[in-house]
Amino acid sequence: MEPALNYNYKVVKQFAVATVIWGIVGMLVGVIIAAQLAWPALNLDIPWLTYGRLRPLHTNAVIFAFGICGLFATSYYVVQRTCQVRLFSDKLAAFTFWGWQAVIVLAVVTLPMGYTRGKEYAELEWPITILIALVWIAYAVVFFGTLIIRKVKHIYVANWFFGAYILAVTILHVVQGASMPASLTKSYSAYTGVQDAMIQWWYGHNAVGFILTAGYLGMVYYFIPKQAERPVYSYRLSIVHFWALIFTYMWAGPHHLHYTALPDWTQSVGMVFSLVLLAPSWGGMINGMMTLSGAWHKLRTDPILKFMIVSLSFYGIATFEGPMMSIKTINALSHYTDWTVAHVHGGALGWVGFITMGSIYYLIPRLVGEQKMYSVKLIDLHFWVATIGVVLYIAAMWIAGVMQGLMWRAVNPDGTLTYTFVEGVKATYPYYAVRVLGGFMYFSGMCVMGYNTWMTLRHRATVTAPIPALAAAH
Ligand code: HEM
Ligand code: HEM
Repeated sequence: MEPALNYNYKVVKQFAVATVIWGIVGMLVGVIIAAQLAWPALNLDIPWLTYGRLRPLHTNAVIFAFGICGLFATSYYVVQRTCQVRLFSDKLAAFTFWGWQAVIVLAVVTLPMGYTRGKEYAELEWPITILIALVWIAYAVVFFGTLIIRKVKHIYVANWFFGAYILAVTILHVVQGASMPASLTKSYSAYTGVQDAMIQWWYGHNAVGFILTAGYLGMVYYFIPKQAERPVYSYRLSIVHFWALIFTYMWAGPHHLHYTALPDWTQSVGMVFSLVLLAPSWGGMINGMMTLSGAWHKLRTDPILKFMIVSLSFYGIATFEGPMMSIKTINALSHYTDWTVAHVHGGALGWVGFITMGSIYYLIPRLVGEQKMYSVKLIDLHFWVATIGVVLYIAAMWIAGVMQGLMWRAVNPDGTLTYTFVEGVKATYPYYAVRVLGGFMYFSGMCVMGYNTWMTLRHRATVTAPIPALAAAH
């Protein structure tokens, strides 16, 4: 077989391995900052180990390193398999891998040094922001180029989700990145005051919608049917909820700015769109779950499928909880508390983490010509340790969050506050300790995955899989 006619699995494998490595790193930093919140002395009085610098390192490492490497790996794999052509350009694909790793390494260096734009999820200073833009343009060319040269008439729905994620991130990054450099390491936002806040949360919320949601729905639509060996439950539903989801997400950002200087009507618009968002989100969740009709028994023996289905359950939980939290009166209780952190990690650990892990477990053996991972028992162990870890983490933060909200708003009959702030902090302490335990379990599961991946890859070269005959569709 002509090498040019083979799929490019090399870049998929590189990104898949990077996902595992950066997952371990990002979650380790998560455990460290969780421990610092319980025991602040753990910053050891070293500036670059302080919470304020490590927290953005955690969020960048888990979202942009672990999360996006997983999306690169899966989107490159899926677009080739479903279009039955090799990636549009090997050179550009290699550039996206090395360029993205350079972005991550620069983040690992500059964030602990204290260089930051001060914008959540967009902390990296302007030279790195430009590098991100270049890598992203190359990504778009490779992905959409592959779609254009496809050998199959139809564009499979997973590619719609991956495509929306790539396009939306381009727009978000360009608008949010606009700033005036003052030096190599310092820049000022192009926006000021409440406009700056609105742009920030239009960006922040759509990062949730298009990276942490649409991209992973791309994984759902390819890997769940594959692993369950069942067709997608309803193809029509997948298209309807796709359009509804991407239209609605764009307007929900103001729910991050309730009771602020943002005009009140804008907050209400954000709330209404957030409530509407429940429907398309659950459309996707139900479609994924129902794909298992007739194959539920497989859950007993297949830990990869367990990861995938449990991830959909957490997606359902997070997308029910989110609309509730966007109701202004409920947000008055939840905002500023650990309830938000519980919501974030229900989505991040349960949904994003689990669907990524399931998909990478599916991919790795196939990329090296094996039938399965080195140890299926270890996948099962990972699944259980991680599941108990998520439950401990989010239950602790839910209780802590509601308690904090109630303590802060409690007033005596004479109008004075019932509790001082520090009493709230003291009451939270045991829950922070439980979070460290839950986070540590989740992180340990990731280390087990690292070991399993290492053992599977040992002595195995990347396979050059031939492109199948057109009749044997994806
Ligand atoms: C071992 C696993 C993890 C642990 C122990 C952990 C711990 C933490 C801690 C302690 C914080 C700071 C909370 C605060 O400021 O009060 C945090 C924030 C955050 N983490 Fe994690 N994390 C983990 C995994 C993840 C993963 C896998 C993701 C995403 C895929 C993620 C996404 C985030 C985000 C987005 C925030 C910011 C939340 C906000 O601003 O409300 N985390 N994490
Ligand atoms: C229907 C879908 C969803 C809606 C309407 C929604 C709504 C909300 C609301 C109201 C907040 C609290 C804002 C605040 O008080 O500051 C929030 C925070 C957050 N949500 Fe969601 N959520 C949804 C799904 C998800 C999913 C699936 C994830 C995936 C991980 C996620 C990640 C986050 C993050 C990271 C934050 C914290 C942002 C920050 O303050 O740094 N959300 N969401």
